[in-house]
Amino acid sequence: MIILGINAYHGDASAAIIADGQLIAAVEEERFNRIKHCAGFPAESIRYCLNAAGVDLVNIDHIGISRDPSAHLHKKILHAATRIARNAMGFAGSGATNGKRDNGVFGMISDRLANAAKVRDLKDELSRALRVPRETISATFHNIEHHKAHLASAFFVSPFERAALLSLDGFGDFVSTMWGVGEGNQFEVLDEVEYPHSTGIVYTATTQFIGFPHYGDEGKVMGLAPYGRDTYCNQVRELLMTGSSGFELDLEYFKPLGSNQGMQIKPDGTVELARHFSARMVELFGPPREPHSDITQRDMDLAYAMQHCFEEVFFHLLNDLNAQVPLDHLVMAGGCALNSVANGKLFDRTPFQHTWIQPAAGDEGLALGAALHTYHAVLGHKREFVMKDSYLGPEFSDRRIEASLETAGVRYKKLDRGPLLDTLADRIAKGDVVGWFQGRMEWGPRALGNRSILAHPGLPQMKDVLNARIKRREWFRPFAPSILQERQAEFFEHDHPSPFMLHVYKIKPGKREPLCAVNHVDDTGRLQSVSHEENPLYYELIETFERKTGIPVLLNTSFNENEPIVCAPEEAIRCFQRTKMDALAIGPYIALKNEN
Ligand SMILES: [Fe+2]
Repeated sequence: MIILGINAYHGDASAAIIADGQLIAAVEEERFNRIKHCAGFPAESIRYCLNAAGVDLVNIDHIGISRDPSAHLHKKILHAATRIARNAMGFAGSGATNGKRDNGVFGMISDRLANAAKVRDLKDELSRALRVPRETISATFHNIEHHKAHLASAFFVSPFERAALLSLDGFGDFVSTMWGVGEGNQFEVLDEVEYPHSTGIVYTATTQFIGFPHYGDEGKVMGLAPYGRDTYCNQVRELLMTGSSGFELDLEYFKPLGSNQGMQIKPDGTVELARHFSARMVELFGPPREPHSDITQRDMDLAYAMQHCFEEVFFHLLNDLNAQVPLDHLVMAGGCALNSVANGKLFDRTPFQHTWIQPAAGDEGLALGAALHTYHAVLGHKREFVMKDSYLGPEFSDRRIEASLETAGVRYKKLDRGPLLDTLADRIAKGDVVGWFQGRMEWGPRALGNRSILAHPGLPQMKDVLNARIKRREWFRPFAPSILQERQAEFFEHDHPSPFMLHVYKIKPGKREPLCAVNHVDDTGRLQSVSHEENPLYYELIETFERKTGIPVLLNTSFNENEPIVCAPEEAIRCFQRTKMDALAIGPYIALKNEN
């Protein structure tokens, strides 16, 4: 039985495919069309998934779509009607008149109907995009509610038979937060938090206020937070309060987001965010920071308060969840599950002792969740697959890589595995910055050693070198360490594995100098624990580096330069050519900048 999962017309459009319960492939559309967080129709992702499974669209039995326009419809209409009544009664509130976006109950209903029609038309879109006659598509379509897809994306491929489940993000299908309990091939939803209350929305509003306006910029606030002080925590607690059923927002500080939930999708699939914060927030904190202007202590303090108050709500939710589901095992998904700083603290702040977080925790993961929910929860099949790594994307033959190098006019050498690892480790030990392109591309936002740029973690100037030569990121953003899993406890204060780079732990005092380029200002690192089973080649490269330097760690940042992570060899080669990367290891081939 073959099931295709699709996240379409929503941020991070994506596709995933499972065959007889085995996950074959999963990929984000941005990697193909090179539009960051693309929100169009994931035609290329679907084509890739079909190829990876060796099937055509006509062979697909079921298609899971990660949205359900009919979910919570009565609440959506009630909410719009309440707002119309408020406006009619003259409540200005938090920007209650919102121009085009706040088009009232009729607009909301018509938007909902348009959405429903779009989802219904996916069969037409599929037939057009893949050039297959509509009547040959015999798959049964299933609409899976947003947060159920998130929960399914994580639990059904986790190694846990039973677990507490949490999905936490901006919004999807009128809900921001959902929690429950999973057992075997089913899960039960215990409760949820509905629109307009959302931790994701507060985090995004604050991110915009601090001058980072783009979809997906929230990680910058998480990186900035340790530079701040406890100046505004009491004020941020006014915006985001813990409560008996999760949390709530003081809506005076936020603009109503309308039926598109604050996201505008342009015809090319680019996502633009509406301003989330209201004039009331400006009264509270002063003028928002203009993008690209200097970051002030106020901005750092606000980032600190946001992260701090998010963690308060996060642990409140998790402790409540544990009271309802008293298990050691926790499974999470949703954009807020990418908050690796909070994730790293949960072992000390909650009773949970084992986590499994989907590497594609954001909305790209919905395609996988829609497919898995269809297979297990809807069709009742048993679980037989555990996701052991994130390498679910495209890979390229040596012949294709060599042809790409030839076409680009790059001088290169072919090396066997041993000499390749030895040469690379030598160069990294001497301070070179190396592009590392191997095997299948990672699923999710983190480069985990197959589409990575690698460097020495213990050279004090390395962060500045990487930023000046390639990444051009904000000065305050840390780079991440990849560490041999068995050595983690020697270097970090926690030994719970972090295979998908989704936990931040303190670096032990004696180890901060050898890891100075990946040691953040608060002496933490967002580590990737690398096991030999998951990625033998990358593991052996780190081992070879350790033999030369005594450090079982590499600095690992994503292979890109202000663009989606490279997918195909041509993109890696172009990045190597236009930046000051010293070497490129692509498959068995190595190219050096001083020979090119
Ligand atoms: Fe989501």
